[in-house]
Amino acid sequence: MSFKRLSDTDVCSKRVFIRADLNVPQDDQGAITDDTRIRASLPAIEDALARGAAVMVTSHLGRPTEGEWCAKDSLAPIAQRLSELLKRPVSLIRDWVGDTSWQKTLMPGDVVLLENCRMNKGEKKNDETLSRAMAALCDVYVNDAFGTAHRAEATTHGIGLYAPVACAGPLMAAELDALGLALAAPKRPLVAIVAGSKVSTKLTVLRALAEKVDTLIVGGGISNTFLLAQGFPIGKSLAEPDLVAEAAALLRDFPGKFPLPVDAVCAKSFAADAAAETKDIGQVADDDLILDVGPRTLEMLAPLLMSAGTVVWNGPLGVFEFDAFAEGTRTLAQVIARSPAFSIAGGGDTLAAIAKYGVAQNIGYVSTGGGAFLEFLEGKELPAVAVLKARA
Ligand code: 3PG
Repeated sequence: MSFKRLSDTDVCSKRVFIRADLNVPQDDQGAITDDTRIRASLPAIEDALARGAAVMVTSHLGRPTEGEWCAKDSLAPIAQRLSELLKRPVSLIRDWVGDTSWQKTLMPGDVVLLENCRMNKGEKKNDETLSRAMAALCDVYVNDAFGTAHRAEATTHGIGLYAPVACAGPLMAAELDALGLALAAPKRPLVAIVAGSKVSTKLTVLRALAEKVDTLIVGGGISNTFLLAQGFPIGKSLAEPDLVAEAAALLRDFPGKFPLPVDAVCAKSFAADAAAETKDIGQVADDDLILDVGPRTLEMLAPLLMSAGTVVWNGPLGVFEFDAFAEGTRTLAQVIARSPAFSIAGGGDTLAAIAKYGVAQNIGYVSTGGGAFLEFLEGKELPAVAVLKARA
């Protein structure tokens, strides 16, 4: 892919602005529960610092109201974790666009974190004035935020138009290289798993993938909607009845590509301690909730994954947060890990499952992207990548 890379860019004594994706999950007290994205962002920062740059890093965290500072949206816990990981002080600059006096003390070899970029008015709308003001802060703009590459916002798109130099950081480049290679000429059979609660959020990716893959395994609420489309009872299970026609159209347009579950693990309530009962599809009662796939479904899916050339995985097969309904996702993770296929996985829940079952080492490539990963699979041009290409 043709874009400039940080590794090929002179940054010595330059002011380098890195847009990272440090949008990490936090608990109710604001403590970081998974710092994968922070760790994945270190190589860009360390490289720029090692080559004598004065480094500014920013990211969004959640979806704050623009123009308002709020403690829960602050990057303060991220500054602290970044400082621990980099083993050097990382100060957090709050009003970094309005008052730029902080730049006077930023020296080569220093790194600062610029407060949640979505607190700046105009960020989400990719405002030109804001983008130009941010571009004026730097000599080199680095986009290393693959996870946010599907958003055309001021720090992911606009600034890239006006900064003197715009390049991709090592994480962005690695993601694009790995996903691009695997999808451009995948070793076949190509098997994709698209699972999770809603068809609506993944409808376009389902159709786009159905065109490309040999087998498309659906799971979770998505497969319930497909089961409804085939006329099976699903009781009180999560599904989207208004998308049944769309699911039916996919089944009709791509015959034989969707291996649907043949059994399910059901419960009468959505709770960790609910009694689990395995039932054949067709036997699901009116008051049942389907919370996982059953063992016969896993026996049917395992050989497809073991004989695949490439596997693309997004989404858990069941409610794996509850032990009684985790078997489908656990087995899926382990079979993908054992399969000789090149595997690519992405998405928040998928990453959590990979971590829970300790299979990261045996997955070919684990993407830090959620929505960006899906849009990439869909074949869409990501706006943040488009601007890097245009500036190359
Ligand atoms: C993500 O977590 O998928 C990215 O950080 C993008 O976040 P957003 O959906 O709030 O734009």
